[in-house]
Amino acid sequence: MLLKLHVCFLVLQQVLAQTSTSTALADSAPTEPPSTQTGKTPALGWNTWNAYGCDINEAKVLAAANSFIDLGLADVGYEYINIDDCWSKTTRNSTTQRIIPDSTKFPSGISSVADQVHALGLKIGIYSDAGTATCAGFPGSLGMEAIDAATFNEWGIDYLKYDNCNVPGNWSDSSQPEGGDWYNSNSAVRYRQMGGALAQQSRPIQFALCNWGNANVWDWGARVGHSWRMSSDSRPNWSYITSIITTNVAHLSAVGFYAHNDMDMMEIGNGALTTQEQRTHFAAWAFLKSPIILGTDLSKLDDTQVALIKNAELLAFHQDITNGSAAHPFTAYTGAPTTSPPEYYSGTSSTGFHVFIINTSSSTATKMFKFSSVPELGQTGTWKVHDMWSGANLSGTYSASSSFSVSVQAHDTVAYRITAV
Ligand code: GAL
Repeated sequence: MLLKLHVCFLVLQQVLAQTSTSTALADSAPTEPPSTQTGKTPALGWNTWNAYGCDINEAKVLAAANSFIDLGLADVGYEYINIDDCWSKTTRNSTTQRIIPDSTKFPSGISSVADQVHALGLKIGIYSDAGTATCAGFPGSLGMEAIDAATFNEWGIDYLKYDNCNVPGNWSDSSQPEGGDWYNSNSAVRYRQMGGALAQQSRPIQFALCNWGNANVWDWGARVGHSWRMSSDSRPNWSYITSIITTNVAHLSAVGFYAHNDMDMMEIGNGALTTQEQRTHFAAWAFLKSPIILGTDLSKLDDTQVALIKNAELLAFHQDITNGSAAHPFTAYTGAPTTSPPEYYSGTSSTGFHVFIINTSSSTATKMFKFSSVPELGQTGTWKVHDMWSGANLSGTYSASSSFSVSVQAHDTVAYRITAV
């Protein structure tokens, strides 16, 4: 009996210790906001993971950087060459505790690869994890934030993707934190610790939180980083595209300058997406202002795909520096059917108003909206319409009471700029 009581007491002590540890940690966790020297508009770049998984090396990374130049991707704003999981050795340097690059995969070292990427006028990203190990089992940065942030800074890193695997039990969240603000959750504190360490560095390092939409990250992500993943990993299929759009549209108020819902990396070039699905993939990431991080072997893209990811007008909407908001769903006309995800979106840029229409059905369909139903346009005015994909002005003008109809192929997205006559 006495032994049982003693065990109960020990368990109670442990529970109390854990509770008070997490509260104390939130109380003393860094509160530095993300740098405003980077990440105002969503990142445009490339990452190793969707293309190669763990099978990475410096030749592949530098080939992607060179493709940015050769394919003209750099000219239209693609900037970040990001190394994902599996770049390091499995153990840290036992003296300095620094993470050591895998010298078989990166014989020149990350710092030299960074120099070569910078010499092309591009920026370089790296990956770590807010746990004890990365998802693939390499060293994580939990508890080592100061050392790792300083190492990344010294190597010339411009962007950190920060994953969420191998989180010790006392660092995860079983319920909403006391006070109700998820910014004080154990999850957020793990990310705040790295945010605080990055803020100490001389380089502005864009901070991409990858906690898969856990712990209501859209409520606190902008206080800690520049972007945050909304869900689990992307897949090269239509159901991923529609499901992540649905997830994202529930949280569009979180999007603004320096604050981006991350729908995960691009799958154009992977799997069997139709051209129409690839157009929707690119357009939706652009009009919802998600980072657009290409994830394929760029040398294998065909001309249609290269033209698609270089579309100047969709990229201009995505990178607009006068309006940071995402496009929002609207009701196309009174009584319009609802779909999941929504099909009609409108938004504003420095060049006008915009309407984007996704055909979520698996056959060609006529899509129609009334100008007076587009919230940005109001009830009066005369409008002309411009096709953002082709760059062509459509003939004719429209009054507020007019309707606009267009035939849209299965799973395709049309994109328009609307300006006053
Ligand atoms: C996942 C992450 C992926 C990729 C992978 C690497 O957690 O969502 O984008 O980084 O880990 O192991």
